[in-house]
Amino acid sequence: MNLRPRINRWTHARRDLNFSSQIESSLVQPHFVVAGEGVDEPIASMPGIHRQSTDVLLQTIAGDMKMGLKSHMLFAVLDEHEKDATASAASSKDMHLIHAIRQLKSQFGDDIVVMTDVCLCTATDHGHCGILHNENIDNDLSVTELCKIAVSHAEAGADYISASDMMDGRVLAIRGALENAGLVNTGILSYSVKYASSFYGPFRDAADSAPSFGDRGSHQMDIRSGYGEAVLEATSDESEGADIIMIKPALAYLDVVRKVADVVTRPVAVYNVSGEYSLVMSSTSDEESRGKMVREIFHSFKRAGADVIVSYHAREALSRNWL
Ligand code: PBG
Repeated sequence: MNLRPRINRWTHARRDLNFSSQIESSLVQPHFVVAGEGVDEPIASMPGIHRQSTDVLLQTIAGDMKMGLKSHMLFAVLDEHEKDATASAASSKDMHLIHAIRQLKSQFGDDIVVMTDVCLCTATDHGHCGILHNENIDNDLSVTELCKIAVSHAEAGADYISASDMMDGRVLAIRGALENAGLVNTGILSYSVKYASSFYGPFRDAADSAPSFGDRGSHQMDIRSGYGEAVLEATSDESEGADIIMIKPALAYLDVVRKVADVVTRPVAVYNVSGEYSLVMSSTSDEESRGKMVREIFHSFKRAGADVIVSYHAREALSRNWL
């Protein structure tokens, strides 16, 4: 396996994201991208966050870029009729997300960092993160599909593939698939230490990705598991070629962030997830107190060892000068 440390240095925007000590440069804003035109639909459980079609997304991100919010994580939201048992729509070269990636990269070039979620759950009709065999997720069949999706995003120009599925061995397989396709500058942000958490509820509404039966316990980490399991997942992803190692959720796992940051050599990311966002948003309508809470939370991430912070608060924090 080729280690490619240059991936994180490839553009000035990637370097600012990974290596600046300033919170402003560390922030990544998530977006929910739908097909169509002129769609700007608020998500009830996540005040301030909307599902947007590519034309509206481009305007939103243009505003973000102007105030220095340069890193963006895209989630494709699909219509029911596009979904099937094998998530085939997710790797289609014609899907709306591919057009969104292309347009963002052609408009903002190397000034933007585009990260794209790679998982099957938003495109399977059963809502599971993999391909099912007798109601269980078949690891290796799912990895083959994930590789196809990753290559399609990378070809469109994504800076980082965000692998959020938690299948075994997928970082190595995706790295290999990217290399085979000659896409040697595309990074992998791995959701390495991702717990089967109750804090993802609002996201599953937003992305319409809740499993239709069962749960995610067979692949996401047990919330009771200790540091050994976290270090195993983080270090194995690192040795498989992950360029950024992510821990998710963030607030209930700051001890794990510290532990992982102490053992890996790659940049560490935290995902301040939807349930954590909604908790803060519903706790007060007073902007000033909310700002102070967000500032305190972001500093706790930094102190725990996070280089990169994925948060739905990113835009508001920058636009209102909360940091
Ligand atoms: C897809 C995915 C999820 C989140 C990010 N990528 C949902 C899940 O694992 O069920 C959650 C993000 C959030 O709650 O903000 N697998």
